[in-house]
This record gives sequence, C-alpha cells and structure tokens, in this order.
Amino acid sequence: MAAPDPHALPTSVDFAHALIETRVNPGDWVVDATAGNGHDTLFLARLVTPAGRVFAFDIQAEAITSTRDRLAAADALSACTLIHASHHQLASQLPPEAAGRLAAIMFNLGWLPGHDKACITQTDTTLAAVQVALEWLRPGGLLTIVAYPGHAGGDVESQAIALWASSLPSNSHEVRHLRPANRQGKSPECWAIRMRPTGQDR
Ligand SMILES: C[S@@+](CC[C@H](N)C(=O)[O-])C[C@H]1O[C@@H](n2cnc3c(N)ncnc32)[C@H](O)[C@@H]1O
Repeated sequence: MAAPDPHALPTSVDFAHALIETRVNPGDWVVDATAGNGHDTLFLARLVTPAGRVFAFDIQAEAITSTRDRLAAADALSACTLIHASHHQLASQLPPEAAGRLAAIMFNLGWLPGHDKACITQTDTTLAAVQVALEWLRPGGLLTIVAYPGHAGGDVESQAIALWASSLPSNSHEVRHLRPANRQGKSPECWAIRMRPTGQDR
C-alpha cells in the first residue's frame, strides 16, 4: 500500500475536525451523534477537557464498546457519556440543561467501519436528528455532517441533507458545503452549519 501523501488536501472528516477544533473549548458540552469506533468522540473529549462533557450516541452495542475501549485507553472516559440509542432521540437522552448549551455536534454518517454494512444511518432518523441538533446548539454553535453519497442509501441520505441544509434561513444560519469538486456524488462531503449568534442576523 502506498504511504499517505503528507501534502494531500483535507478530507471531509479533516474539514469537520478543523472547523470544530477552533470553536470548541475546555468546559464546553458537545455531542458526537455517531460514535462508531470512537475517533471523533476522543477528538472532542480532548477539546473539552477539563470540565467539559461529550455525549456520544450509537445504536450498535459494538460501537459503544469500541468507543469505550478507545476512550479508556486514552484516559478520556470520564469526560464522556456514552448513549446506546439513536441520535434522533437526543432531546429525551440528554440532560435538559444541555438545551441551547451545546457548542458543537458532529455527525459522521454511514456504517461502522469493519462491521455490518447493512447497518447504516437512515435518511428519516438522520433528518430528524440534525433538525433537533440545530435546536440544541448554543448561539454560535456548530453542527458538522460528513455524508457518504457513494453508497446505496447514502446517496439518498446525502441528497436529503443537501435539500434540508440549503433551505435553512441565511439570516440565522451560516451553511457551508465542502467536497471534492471533481468527484461529485462519489466522495464523502462535509456540511458545516453555524447558528449565527444573536444580534448578528443578516
Ligand atoms: C461512520 S460510523 C462513525 C465513525 C465514528 N464517528 C468514528 O470516529 O469512529 C457511523 C456510525 O453511525 C452509527 N449509527 C447508525 N445509525 C445511527 C443512529 N440512528 N443513531 C446513532 N448512531 C447511528 C453506526 O452504528 C456507526 O457506528
């Protein structure tokens, strides 16, 4: 296998991390909506420690176990609450005081790498989840979504996200779509949505 190119341009996951890294601080509360193997949960835990909290969702027990193991190995478990439930249940799973307080919420859609590809995020629950996620962000908070149009199911889901995100009012939301321009429809793409702070409506 060829060695990774150190000068390659950022992937969609890199874009999501870069945007979040400069906007999440120690003490913040954040959500990883798709814990998977825990890479993003650990990334978030390192940003909010000490005193902050990461709430991480996944519907697969294997993902919760994998995430717990990764966090424990990095001594980051105490900063995280792992929730074995669907992200569209965010409002009933998070403490009420998290409403309007979340600094960032990450979605990395698709399937759990190394596991059953039939268990993928579903358009209906994803749309319900991203909508409630926006409602729980603090002013200035950031929602990122990495979507995968290149697989069956992911194509429909990506189109639904595009429609939803494109229709958000520009006076209250900043919306960016980052993707490889010459591989449209195949490569992962990143959506970033920021709630404009109150008083900055345009
Ligand atoms: C691409 S993986 C996430 C990768 C992960 N963020 C990481 O850093 O390793 C997508 C994950 O979404 C999970 N998932 C699918 N549907 C879900 C749902 N409705 N709610 C929460 N997680 C879901 C899958 O089980 C899978 O683990």
